[in-house]
Order: sequence, then structure tokens, then C-alpha cells
Amino acid sequence: MAYGYSTDPELDRSTNRAMAVGAVLLLAMAAAFPLYLAYEPSAREDARAGQLESLAHEGESTWSFNCASCHGADGEGGSAPALNSKQFLQSATDEQIQLLVSVGIPGSPMGAYSQDFGGPLTSEQIKAITTYLRSLEDEAPDFPNWRNP
Ligand code: HEC
Repeated sequence: MAYGYSTDPELDRSTNRAMAVGAVLLLAMAAAFPLYLAYEPSAREDARAGQLESLAHEGESTWSFNCASCHGADGEGGSAPALNSKQFLQSATDEQIQLLVSVGIPGSPMGAYSQDFGGPLTSEQIKAITTYLRSLEDEAPDFPNWRNP
């Protein structure tokens, strides 16, 4: 008998059994924790990638309605700069794109799109469009002259 808690051998046996079960459970949890640590960041990474993908998808349809007529269906340019250009996407941050789309370019056909500036889009929609443009970057064509498509 490992421990003698009482003078009742039956009670001692059941106490030791309960402690053994507890020790096994504790070890199992300790062993599982590194597995959790290894799994958790990749689960979060997957969730983040999924969220960006659905935001880009949403941005794509907002793009077709509001931007494609000048900038091209896939951002390849038209009467307005080609925004799927590698050079453009590398030179502009998300914040710059959002700001520019929000306030527009005075004196040019590029209007202000934010509702804060009299435009039709919410800041969420402008963020979604920016995420869509960013999603083109991986396969963006080499197009240094993107301002004159
Ligand atoms: C009526 C045509 C038109 C529409 C519609 C339009 N744009 Fe533009 N956009 C332009 C023109 C023209 C320019 C270039 C203006 C300049 O540089 O003088 C421009 C410039 C831009 C630029 C800056 C590119 C640079 O030169 O750095 C961005 C970003 C942009 N537009 C995004 C958008 C987005 C996003 C939408 C839809 C929400 C949109 N535009 C809708 C005509 C348009």
C-alpha cells in the first residue's frame, strides 16, 4: 500500500486508485498540450486566409459594379490605370489604396468613393476592394507603364 490514509484498507485502495487515475489524466493532458500548441497557429492561419479570401470575393463584385468600367474587369486598365500591375501593387500600401479610393483624385475622372466624401461605398466595401486588388498581386503582370494602359 503506497499511502495509509486510514485504518480501512478498502478506503486506502480506492483512494490510491483515484490518485492513479488522476495522475494518468494529468499526464495525458500534459502530453496533449504540445500537440495543441503545434496545431493552433496553423488553424488560426487557415481561418485568416479563409477570411481574406471571402473579403476579396466580396471586393471583386463591388469592383465589377464600381470600378471595372474604367479600370478593366480584372484591373487590366482601360481609360484608367491598370491596377493589377505588379509595379502598382508593389508601390502602394493597402492604406494608400484605401485612402485614394475614399477621397478620389480631384480634377480627374477618379471620384471619391467613400460615403464620408459623398461616394457610394462604406469603408468595409473599400477595404474589400483593396483586399481583392491585393489578391491579384501573386500573379500580377509585369507592367511598369500601368498609368498608361
Ligand atoms: C470614371 C472612371 C473611373 C472609375 C469608375 C474609377 N476610377 Fe479609379 N481612376 C480613374 C482615373 C482616370 C485615374 C487616374 C487619375 C489620375 O492619376 O489623374 C484613377 C486612379 C485610381 C487609382 C490610383 C492609381 C494611381 O495612379 O496611383 C486607384 C487606386 C483607383 N483609381 C481605384 C479605383 C477603384 C477601387 C474604383 C472603384 C471603386 C475606381 N478607381 C473607379 C478613373 C476611374
